[in-house]
Amino acid sequence: MTYLSPLAYLLGIEGVALLRGIREGGADRAFVEARLTEIRALLDLPALDEEAEVITATHGTISTADVYRDWAPTYDEPGNGMIEIEQPLVRQILDGLPVGTALDAACGTGRHGAYLAELGHRVIGVDQSAEMLALAAVRLPDADLIQADLAAIPLPDDSVDTVVCGLALAHVPDLGPVLAEFARVLRPGGHLVISDAHLLLSYLRPTLPRRPGPDGRPSILTEYHRPLSAYLAAALPLGFQVRHCAEPGRPPSPTASGPLPTEMSWDLLRWCPEAASAAHDDAPVVVIWHFQLEVSGGSTSRAS
Ligand SMILES: C[S@@+](CC[C@H](N)C(=O)[O-])C[C@H]1O[C@@H](n2cnc3c(N)ncnc32)[C@H](O)[C@@H]1O
Repeated sequence: MTYLSPLAYLLGIEGVALLRGIREGGADRAFVEARLTEIRALLDLPALDEEAEVITATHGTISTADVYRDWAPTYDEPGNGMIEIEQPLVRQILDGLPVGTALDAACGTGRHGAYLAELGHRVIGVDQSAEMLALAAVRLPDADLIQADLAAIPLPDDSVDTVVCGLALAHVPDLGPVLAEFARVLRPGGHLVISDAHLLLSYLRPTLPRRPGPDGRPSILTEYHRPLSAYLAAALPLGFQVRHCAEPGRPPSPTASGPLPTEMSWDLLRWCPEAASAAHDDAPVVVIWHFQLEVSGGSTSRAS
């Protein structure tokens, strides 16, 4: 059970702002005093201290399938800050890869698959969500779309040249079996491009509860945010070599103004925009990996 208090979340953001400022040098006297004044004010605000809605939520009663069933119709709408940061960097890697057969693993609505098709690849999409795949079918009429789990991809060994897996591995409890499937379906020398929500983001913007969850009570989707070493520990023994790794951050941007909420929402940051900026600006949002599978019997020395 997690006890989610808007006041506690904002005090956490103030704390991150102070710790970052101390670590990175932005915490001059005026900044520190402003944070302390704001913390006192937040603690004394009746709207937050007494009236803000506190939720007790259970982890894991809602499933990934439940979430994407609800999210599918609006997933592609503009305004997804993570996609805005991730997409140009993933495309930059895809632009440099040889054209062939590409698997969009956990393709969702086919965002990366559509780009791969534009580049001339034959595209296969795999996803466990029927609702997301139905939208991918509209966007990718010529692709083979398969409903399956990433840990059991129904494709032959050595059958694809590129695997791209966008913003999905945080849903997977164990990276090992999934990366083993990517290695199995890739031809020797094939390329694997992964993007995933960054561990740090999961602290700054913890997953919000769904209300109601499937059993009528608030529920938080269980997610698996990982340190970079976890990807390496899973990928390197399979013969993947690192070609590139990036951790793009959120560019500095003012916190949007608007009515001050008192329920759990990212809009809570409007209560303390300076601390929100100090905590979030340039903090990594996603991690992006480009791996290449070794050619059997020897290491791959260059992207080809
Ligand atoms: C955030 S969406 C990303 C969709 C797409 N890759 C993109 O970047 O726009 C995550 C997708 O992963 C899929 N997914 C999560 N766990 C999965 C699993 N174990 N096997 C197959 N698909 C999975 C979900 O159904 C969802 O479509």
